[in-house]
Amino acid sequence: METLSQSGILVQSGGIPFLRELYSRLLSRVQIRICATPEEARRIISQSPPAVFVCALTCEDFQNGIFTQVFNLCHFSGTQVFLLAERFESADFRRVFDFPAVLCVPKSVSIDSLTTRIEELLCEREKTERLRKELKKSNDHSANFRRTVISTLTLITEFRDSDTAGHVKRTTLYVSALIDAYITKGYGIDPVYAENIKKTASLHDIGKVTVSDILLKKPGKFTFNEYELTKLHTVYGNKILNNIVSEAADPMFRVAAEIAYTHHERWDGKGYPNGVSGEQIPLSGRIMAIADVYDALRSDRVYKKGFSHKKTTGIIMEDKETAFDPRLVDLFFEINEQFHDISVRFRLMKLPGEK
Ligand SMILES: [Fe+2]
Repeated sequence: METLSQSGILVQSGGIPFLRELYSRLLSRVQIRICATPEEARRIISQSPPAVFVCALTCEDFQNGIFTQVFNLCHFSGTQVFLLAERFESADFRRVFDFPAVLCVPKSVSIDSLTTRIEELLCEREKTERLRKELKKSNDHSANFRRTVISTLTLITEFRDSDTAGHVKRTTLYVSALIDAYITKGYGIDPVYAENIKKTASLHDIGKVTVSDILLKKPGKFTFNEYELTKLHTVYGNKILNNIVSEAADPMFRVAAEIAYTHHERWDGKGYPNGVSGEQIPLSGRIMAIADVYDALRSDRVYKKGFSHKKTTGIIMEDKETAFDPRLVDLFFEINEQFHDISVRFRLMKLPGEK
């Protein structure tokens, strides 16, 4: 017969011969021990909760408050209590029914049926535990794989557009700062959505892999047609990331696709690719827009010098309600020093492997 990894304890308070017999029957399959006192049982349960706790009580035993403590402890530890008693009629003793972890068993129960019931319960626990571990392993694997996909796609973006080295890191940090401030302010955001925005903000420009080098490195202003072509990086970014969503049904990449698609939309509807306005633009895209523009204004480009923090902040404030969500602009202004710190700390970031 299979040995179970689940453990149990028995306490010797009354009914000793019965419990000794139960102990000897369970011993071959279960790691089980007998405690001499309920105090010893309480200590063990608090340190290393067993799956099962068996005790035999009289009404007088129960009036001693120690069992109340043990039953509560069992409830919070997920330990199933098998309580054997002669009779449960007395008003005092009926209080045991108030403890959710306690299963009352008449002392007349046959040793065979009680042994079988405990073994069945331990088998169920074992199965649940095994499933929980397998699920955790599979979740850990998925989380690792997701992290790898995000960091690989981020690297591709950075290698593709080396002019903006550090841009990805900085914008990710600006986005995190804005989301933290948004949460602190109590504006209300689903915590998983907030986390997914933070984790995938680095992919906002993944669509630039489709923009030619000639355009990405062009020192001067774009012609109308060139600008129209670069604008398509939002559409292609959305397409690339949506491919992961449809292949893996992953909500995190759905947020990533949303950011890639909407981070150039404007509050007044004059952005691209769809010209949507106000709260029709997902919150992720509205947050990313401020982070992206702040960094673009602050950074040197082949065709311009970066602006100061003060000048950049002024431009963003002026664009409140035209380019940007006014509530987010106010939030940005409240934490603008954090933006400045990030821009200074990560100004000279190099790509991995770059000298
Ligand atoms: Fe972009």
